[in-house]
Amino acid sequence: MCDFFWPFRDPPEPTDAKVCLIQMKISIFGAGYVGVVSSGCLAALGHEVIAVDVAPEKIAMLRRGQSPIVEAEINELVASGVQDGRLVATDDVEEAVARTDVSFISVGTPSAPNGSVSMTAVDNVVSAIGRALKGKAARHTVVMRSTVPPGTAEDRVIPMLERESGRRHGVDFAYYSNPEFLREGSSVRDFHAPPFTLIGAAPGDDAAVLRNLYAAIEAPVHVAPYRVVESAKYLSNAYHAVKLAFANEAGQILAAHGVDAREAFRIFREDRVLNISSAYLRPGFAFGGSCLPKDIRSLLALANDKDVAAPFLRHVLPSNQDIVERTYGMIARHGRQKVALLGLAFKQGTDDLRESPFVVLAEKLLGKGYDLRIFDRSVQVARLVGSNRVYIDREIPHIERLMVDDVAVALAESRIVVVGHVGAEDRAPLCKSLSDHIVFDLAGIDELAAQSGIVYQGICW
Ligand SMILES: NC(=O)c1ccc[n+]([C@@H]2O[C@H](COP(=O)([O-])OP(=O)(O)OC[C@H]3O[C@@H](n4cnc5c(N)ncnc54)[C@H](O)[C@@H]3O)[C@@H](O)[C@H]2O)c1
Repeated sequence: MCDFFWPFRDPPEPTDAKVCLIQMKISIFGAGYVGVVSSGCLAALGHEVIAVDVAPEKIAMLRRGQSPIVEAEINELVASGVQDGRLVATDDVEEAVARTDVSFISVGTPSAPNGSVSMTAVDNVVSAIGRALKGKAARHTVVMRSTVPPGTAEDRVIPMLERESGRRHGVDFAYYSNPEFLREGSSVRDFHAPPFTLIGAAPGDDAAVLRNLYAAIEAPVHVAPYRVVESAKYLSNAYHAVKLAFANEAGQILAAHGVDAREAFRIFREDRVLNISSAYLRPGFAFGGSCLPKDIRSLLALANDKDVAAPFLRHVLPSNQDIVERTYGMIARHGRQKVALLGLAFKQGTDDLRESPFVVLAEKLLGKGYDLRIFDRSVQVARLVGSNRVYIDREIPHIERLMVDDVAVALAESRIVVVGHVGAEDRAPLCKSLSDHIVFDLAGIDELAAQSGIVYQGICW
């Protein structure tokens, strides 16, 4: 065990404008990239920090006022934190927990051989903190900063802390998920300007401790259920990876055709309405229509011309088709019941049926012998006035025969309702017609979610 540097010397009056409003005592487990940056930055904000690690060389470096990681600005932060007496280091878990109010966990969560996340370091540190809590009378707060899978708080960490400490969550200790969003290379800057502060908390807990702790950080604070917050971190990193894969593959295809891909992407990024925006980022149902599938195919044909592999882009259409298959599978699980399909065009408010995933779903259900009724107000109008008439007559005459002109008629005798999309004027009649139906809401309609008596579920959420 290392010698413990305690008590903190009285820190000098902070001179920096960005100082914490309420000074806290914080132990930070794991002196890696996240832990050292958090330690240095929180100490600079005026908090008293104990960095805890199992690696003696890291503790020794920190005690000398040296950073064990290479990052811009971190050497100065660690040096001044140690010099001012706000940052100390130890391997003594019990002492660190006893002498602080809050423990951050920022140990590594690397990939296991099968791709799942290895929780060994998390388990070790959680059980050590749990044992240390046994001997501590005062209420303590434990905060998970490591990236961990959804369910970790409720299914793993909280039960483990309760088991090891003999204490009760919510009474003797609080637990929060608080994923870190810093990027190596700009981590100190990112610490002070995160996109948001996410806090996973128990129901009814407004996470006042963490709000106070981050009072000097100017970022919106979102408190949400543990699983949502744990998931948001995975969503963020997966999405960043997807953006890079897309940019690199599309760039290769364009470059192979002599296009200045960097310039094309510069223009692409100018679109803040559809491209760099929240558009198309809600889980719902498969895409379709006259443009998206066609243009993905066309981009892949360009890749084929120049022997560009583009494995990521090649999986986009199969992924989309899989959603229709999955929807059929979920309907089929309820047996061969009568189905009402609301929405046939590829999206609400258009009569365009080209490559509509709802047409594909209808074909699949019909092919499997399902009794089907279809309602789509826009397609209904097209049948009457003739727009899209040729397509309907030529491509889907068998589907047209199943169309009805009223949502209540579609639902009559049906047990399963697939809501692809419905216009505002049809939502109230829809809700009125529902009784004990099984509803697959592919559009995410709030009124349906609030409807009682139905079995309600989504496909991609
Ligand atoms: N590196 C990043 O840019 C970054 C950004 C955001 C989130 N994260 C996440 O934060 C977590 C930490 O990442 P990192 O890159 O800082 O890891 P890291 O590997 O750099 O550091 C982990 C540290 O934990 C220590 N440790 C292991 N077991 C311990 C124990 N029982 N007690 C105390 N210390 C122990 C290790 O010795 C090491 O110093 C991971 O879950 C990671 O996914 C990382």
